[in-house]
Amino acid sequence: MSEEYLDKRSIKRIEKWISKVKKRGYSTNNSDASLARRKLKLYYPFIDAGKNRIVYDISDDKVLKIAISVKGIEDNNQEAKIYKSVSSTLKRRLAKVYESGHGWVIMEKLDKKVPETKSYEKKVIKLHKKFKKKHIDPGDIVKERKRLKAKWKNVRLKKGKILVIDYGNFKID
Ligand SMILES: Nc1ncnc2c1ncn2[C@@H]1O[C@H](COP(=O)(O)OP(=O)(O)O)[C@@H](O)[C@H]1O
Ligand SMILES: [Mg+2]
Repeated sequence: MSEEYLDKRSIKRIEKWISKVKKRGYSTNNSDASLARRKLKLYYPFIDAGKNRIVYDISDDKVLKIAISVKGIEDNNQEAKIYKSVSSTLKRRLAKVYESGHGWVIMEKLDKKVPETKSYEKKVIKLHKKFKKKHIDPGDIVKERKRLKAKWKNVRLKKGKILVIDYGNFKID
């Protein structure tokens, strides 16, 4: 395991936490993120948590995502794998994965939310199509209702372009 961005102490704590996550299996509940924070005791500022991962601010331009469920471990693996395997055109639309280990990834930090407007929604749907065309099922960027709807939480803006920050559910067909 490389230690370019994380210190040894943090890696030790993450490893210990991940072994706990594996023992507990797939179950997730609302207290998982706060339990993870208490157990991990990392000195990095906390940013946010989703259903499967907790996210910390490790520098001006990078975040650390740590699994809080077995699904989160898989999602982190998948993000690292997808980022490595897609073409450079698609890479430009994904938050960069810098490094990954068992249960964690270090990802480019993207703070700028996508405005929830009709015109941006069209762009999200267009991005969804772009991935589909390249035989990647972009799981979590749209909801398939009567019509396609954007999942705003999983996308961010970078230099006016829409990028995906949560692509653990993307699948290569
Ligand atoms: N690259 C990122 N830059 C900034 N914030 C992020 C980034 N990735 C995730 N986050 C924040 O952390 C939250 C949870 O991360 P996410 O990857 O969506 O986890 P989950 O798989 O549990 O949904 C996101 O909704 C977002 O607020
Ligand atoms: Mg998410």
